[in-house]
Parts: sequence; structure tokens; C-alpha cells
Amino acid sequence: MAPATRSLKAITLFLLAWTGLVAGDRIYVHPFHFLFYSKSSCDQLKSSAETAAEPTFTPAPIQAKTPPLNEAHLRDQLLMAAGKLEAEEKLRAAEVGMMANFMGFRMYKMLSEVGGTSHGAVLSPTALFGTLASFYLGSTDPTASQLQAFLGVPGKDQDCTSRLDGHKVLSALQAIQGLLVAQGEAGGQARLLLSTVVGLFMAPGLQLKQPFVKGLAPFAPVVLPRSLDLSSPHVAAEKIRQFMQAVTGWKMNGLPAGVSADSTMLFNTYVHFQGRLKGFSLLAEPQEFRVDNSTRVSVHMLSGSGTFQHWHDPQNNLSMTSVPLGENASLLLLKPGCASELDRVQALAFHQDLFIWMKNASPRTLHLTLPQLELRGAYDLQALLAQAKLPTLLGAQAALGRISDSGVRVGEVLNSVLFELKADEGEQPTESAPQSEMTEALEVTLNSPFLFAIHERDSGALHFLGRVDNPRA
Ligand SMILES: *[C@@H]1O[C@H](CO)[C@@H](O)[C@H](O)[C@H]1NC(C)=O
Ligand SMILES: *[C@@H]1O[C@H](CO)[C@@H](O)[C@H](O)[C@H]1NC(C)=O
Ligand SMILES: *[C@@H]1O[C@H](CO)[C@@H](O)[C@H](O)[C@H]1NC(C)=O
Repeated sequence: MAPATRSLKAITLFLLAWTGLVAGDRIYVHPFHFLFYSKSSCDQLKSSAETAAEPTFTPAPIQAKTPPLNEAHLRDQLLMAAGKLEAEEKLRAAEVGMMANFMGFRMYKMLSEVGGTSHGAVLSPTALFGTLASFYLGSTDPTASQLQAFLGVPGKDQDCTSRLDGHKVLSALQAIQGLLVAQGEAGGQARLLLSTVVGLFMAPGLQLKQPFVKGLAPFAPVVLPRSLDLSSPHVAAEKIRQFMQAVTGWKMNGLPAGVSADSTMLFNTYVHFQGRLKGFSLLAEPQEFRVDNSTRVSVHMLSGSGTFQHWHDPQNNLSMTSVPLGENASLLLLKPGCASELDRVQALAFHQDLFIWMKNASPRTLHLTLPQLELRGAYDLQALLAQAKLPTLLGAQAALGRISDSGVRVGEVLNSVLFELKADEGEQPTESAPQSEMTEALEVTLNSPFLFAIHERDSGALHFLGRVDNPRA
């Protein structure tokens, strides 16, 4: 058996075992059934296979004028999509949420193995999954079936009805995003923002297939196909950075351009999250944060009191606090009992223990202080795939005939995340909290390195996994 096949088999077996574990208390139909092609779409695919001359277009040059992004509009679109979800769509969202969590944990581990988490990190499992699902949409066999197995759902040979329907997967990702954003809406005040943009950068003269680009819309409502000279990776990276900043207004991290000069396509996914914590206020004075035992920095901190889900695990020497971001979403904060234990706690938390800890948590009155966050993370999926022993999955031989007829060579596959956490500005500090209760409030202060995640209960998805070593870095 080829190493890649073996590696995929191992992943699949692990996923199935893990699925059984976490899905224990959920309505559970045959795993992933709802994400496959239906019998009728299979028949349709068969009859249209021969006539498949899909329309193509040449991307505009990167210098072409592009209107700025309207994030409020993107949020409204997501809300609308989340507002009319049917039962089956919710099930799909839960299935994709679970697959994305697993992918997120796995890739977080790869990121930490390549040294990408030791000074802080923020990773978006849903963006990662969406990026790979986008490639799945653009691929033909054998790449398509390899990607399907890597996504966690191996198909049965040539059986069309056991193949993932890429459009269903990407729609489920839209539902997942919408369910998170909807959480901030209670009380008519938008507290959560989640915007996803894909930049498709092609070498001049290359054509893209229209159905592919259109098909990405549920996952990334804004797709920017642009052409530019990629033969000089550093120059191209800088042009892309300027272009994206001009369109989005986001100051994001790129990566040191390690792209080989013969790439003809870069697939970059950009995600911006902004959360406002209800009932929290910004402390007037900056506070001390101990980065390590010889470095201290002064940072803006938020503080708030209330009854939060909390769990102290004496065995693993850590505590977890869950701060609500609406009815079904929360910010999970994980603090090791001892700062030097962060790596160990990270390995446990972003594996599967997080779900167990969440079940163990119980309501507790506490006073919580944590840094205001503006974190930037960036990682190249190609590097993570290489670390996962699948360096050729999106390599030169990848069959991506649904993206373009020109035989694209994929360079970097960047995921870039801007993650912001603030106080809810409309909110007055709650002076009126009953004093008797507050006297017995547990003090939880995140003034040394910690981990966090954003979880939404309806889809079960973990939207972000992260680690803060230095809030000012
Ligand atoms: C929270 O989840 C419940 C159960 O799925 C659902 O009925 C409710 O509408 C959700 N609330 C929001 C704000 O999405
Ligand atoms: C947990 O962390 C505390 C604080 O650093 C430390 O004193 C204690 O020894 C740790 N306990 C265990 C069981 O590791
Ligand atoms: C600082 O921390 C490191 C590892 O966390 C430890 O090895 C070292 O002994 C510590 N130094 C002091 C002065 O405590």
C-alpha cells in the first residue's frame, strides 16, 4: 500500500472511532449520508458528463479596480441563510461541523509540529475545511477521491451515491457560519462578525471555470479571481497583500513567500472574526501579562462578572471557563494550572478532551479578566499536508480539471485569520450585581499564556482554535 493511502486509511479509521465518541448524545443517522449525491443527481451527472464543456473566463488583472468589502452586508447574508435552515440542512451542518472539528484538531497538531504554535496561533477549522472542500469541488479523480478520504469520508470506489456532493458541503459551511453569527443578534445588536473572502490568484492567461468559482459562494461569499505574474514569488506576495488590504481593510499576516516560481495558482482564504463580550468592559489601566518567567508586557484587559460554565480539572491541572457569545455559542478559555504546562494542555485540549471538559463544566459565579485580543494567524495548507505525510495531495500532479482546463499548478494555499475580541461598547459596566453573590465570586484572570476556542452548539462546530502567548505580539 502506498504511504499516502495508508495515511488516509488511518485518518479515516480514527475519524470513524472519534465520530462514535462525540456523537453519542446526538440524533444520529448513518454518518454523512446527507452529504452524498442523491440517486437522482447521480443520474443527472451521468447524462451530462459528455456535454461538459464548462464556460471559462480570464480573471481580471490584480490592478483592476475592486470595490471595498461590505462586512455588514456579508453578515446580513449569513443571517438570512441561517434563518431559513431546514431540518436536513441543520443535520448537514452538524455533520460538516464534526468533520471540520476533526480536521481542525489534526491540522492544529501539524501546525504545532512544524513550530507554528509555539508563540501563539489562531486556526480556523471551518476555513481549513472549506478550503479543502473547495479543492474537492474543483478536482476530478484520483484527486477527488483522495480529498474525499482526507476530508474524512472515503467513498466506495466508483459508486456515485457514496461520493460527497461538494455543493452540499460548502452550503453546510455557510449554515455553520450563519449559525454562529446569528448568536450575536439577540437584543437586536450585532455582536459577532464573521467574514470569509477567497483570493484566487492565477498566472496571466490562465482561464478559470465559471461553475467552480460560482460554487464557492456559500463558503466564501466574496471570491476575488485575479491574474498576476507569479514567477517572482516575493513580488507577487507583496502585490497580493496590498490588494487584499485595499479591498478588505484588514491588516493580516501573509507568509514568507516560499512558493516555487513555477506555480500558476494561489488559493488564499481570509477570515475576519470580531466578537463583543456582553457585560464586559475595558479596564481603564493596562494590566500586566506574564509572557514567560522573564518577560512581562502591559496589555488592555476586559473584565466582567457573571455565572459562567466552569470546570477545574485537578487531574490535568487546568481550568476551563465558557463565556457565552449568545444563546448557543461560547468562547472557551483554557488556563493551565502552571504556565509551563501549556504545551501539554494544548495537546489534550485540541485533540478531543475539549468536548469532555465542556460536558463536565457547571455554572459558577465568577469574575473574569482577560486580554482584549487582536490576533493574526497564517498558515500554508501545503506545509500542513506535507507534515501530514500527504505532500502530493495538492501537488503538481493533482487533477484539478474542474478549476481550469489549463492544468494549474497549485502553489501556496494560505489561510489567514484576523481574530478580534472586544468589550461590548454599548454596555455599561454592571454595577448592580448583587454584592452578596460577588463576594463569593471566583477570580479567574488570564494574565499568562492560555488557549481558547469558539464553539457553536447547534452545529457543534469549533470555529477557531487558538493560543495566546503574548497578546501584544
Ligand atoms: C439555539 O439552539 C436551539 C436548539 O437547536 C434553537 O432552537 C435556537 O433557535 C438557537 N438559538 C439561536 C439564537 O440560534
Ligand atoms: C498544578 O499547578 C500548580 C501551579 O503551578 C502547581 O503548584 C501544582 O504542582 C500542579 N499540580 C499538578 C498535579 O501538576
Ligand atoms: C523559566 O521557565 C523555564 C521553562 O518554563 C524553566 O526551565 C526555567 O527554570 C525558568 N526560570 C526561572 C528563573 O524560573
